[in-house]
Amino acid sequence: MNKFKDDFIFGTATASYQIEGGASDGGRMPSIWDTFSKKEENVFMGHTGDIACDHYHRSKEDVKILDEIGVDSYRFSISWSRIFPYKDKFNPEGIKFYKNLIKELKDKKITPAVTLYHWDLPQWAQDLGGWENRECIYWFKDYCTKVFKEFGQDVSMWITHNEPFCASILGNYLGIHAPGNKDLKKALIVAHHLLVSHGIVVREFRKFKLENSSIGITLNLSPTYAVSNKQEDVMAAKISDGYTNRWFLDPLLKGHYPKDMVDLYEKEVGVLDFIVDGDLNIIATDMDFLGINYYTRSIVQYDEHSQLKFGGVDGEKEKTAMGWENSPESMRDLLTRIKEEYTKLPLYITENGAAYDDVVTEDNKVHDIDRINFIKAHIQVMQEFIKEGGNLKGYYLWSFMDNFEWAYGYSKRFGMVYVNYNTQERIMKDSAIWYKNFIKVRSLEVD
Ligand code: FCB
Repeated sequence: MNKFKDDFIFGTATASYQIEGGASDGGRMPSIWDTFSKKEENVFMGHTGDIACDHYHRSKEDVKILDEIGVDSYRFSISWSRIFPYKDKFNPEGIKFYKNLIKELKDKKITPAVTLYHWDLPQWAQDLGGWENRECIYWFKDYCTKVFKEFGQDVSMWITHNEPFCASILGNYLGIHAPGNKDLKKALIVAHHLLVSHGIVVREFRKFKLENSSIGITLNLSPTYAVSNKQEDVMAAKISDGYTNRWFLDPLLKGHYPKDMVDLYEKEVGVLDFIVDGDLNIIATDMDFLGINYYTRSIVQYDEHSQLKFGGVDGEKEKTAMGWENSPESMRDLLTRIKEEYTKLPLYITENGAAYDDVVTEDNKVHDIDRINFIKAHIQVMQEFIKEGGNLKGYYLWSFMDNFEWAYGYSKRFGMVYVNYNTQERIMKDSAIWYKNFIKVRSLEVD
């Protein structure tokens, strides 16, 4: 039987603002996502994360469900504004919440994997300029250092940033995520400061000499294909790849920004003078693993109306409820490229999954066969990649439960556990039951 090794990690992931709720509890103060979601036009139907899955008050029960599913590891993020609700003002109650969560997990032999920043910058930091202000790097460092001191040893995997592309570009160039700016230069400054802060925090982490605890970063990567062989489309695909993938991979793993993109960006926004001598060394500080969030591929064409002269094209494959193509073979292209062009570091798929329009049956079941097939197809690709010598060490399904899907509010369900937002009832979908059986045998030959 084709089996994954026992030490291959099968986990699942969430993020603080998407599930916790308890927005004003335990001394928490607002983050940029509280502010952003409270402006009606920003999020579907004016949804906010005020209550979300009420996980802040239900973490014990939620860990029981994780245990029932039998995951090896649970990836969650820490809400910075629970730990430092005000600048320089540490909140022990915030730490207590996460310490309890970690204890619950460890009691059930579920390994905690922690994301330090999953987009919910404290509003106080934004009021001082946010990630555009270079000082923010040091506020982040102080927060991370405090967290390492409090429970560094209890966490096996630390992720400095989740998807710096989204935090910078979606939040500051496209304006569809918090803080809602629409300015390419701002976005590039934010991206740079996020990357520098990653390197600085990795260096800080090393000082703790924590055994059995590793650190890395998570990037959202999307293999990019030109819609045709026409030179202008091929060029557009190269730019799109530079914008989404290489702008982050190259500095982290090669120690420099991609030259073609520097030239392009400088034409658009002027000299990138926010890159200070020594920054690239810091960004490229050795880390222990690379986390990859993979959802779909991108097909690109030349678009004279867009600032960067590329635009997305609708692909022909079957789509999820997000309108994203289900394209497991592209994950294979992506993993192979990372292995060949970038790094031999251990890789983790830190997110992969799909939203579908789930229906609860009269007997309280959710038959989400499409999601099961989606997951299976991606696990199959991982298996092949490992067979070919790929250094892939784990897979985190997005998501443990349905949650606040950013600008889509609660309209998109990614969970393997269904959440009834009126009653907060949780229902294990068929995918959760499938994942449970799969994890037991660690083989796709289960059914
Ligand atoms: C990723 C985010 C995650 C979730 C999924 C669907 O970009 O990291 O929080 O929203 O997409």
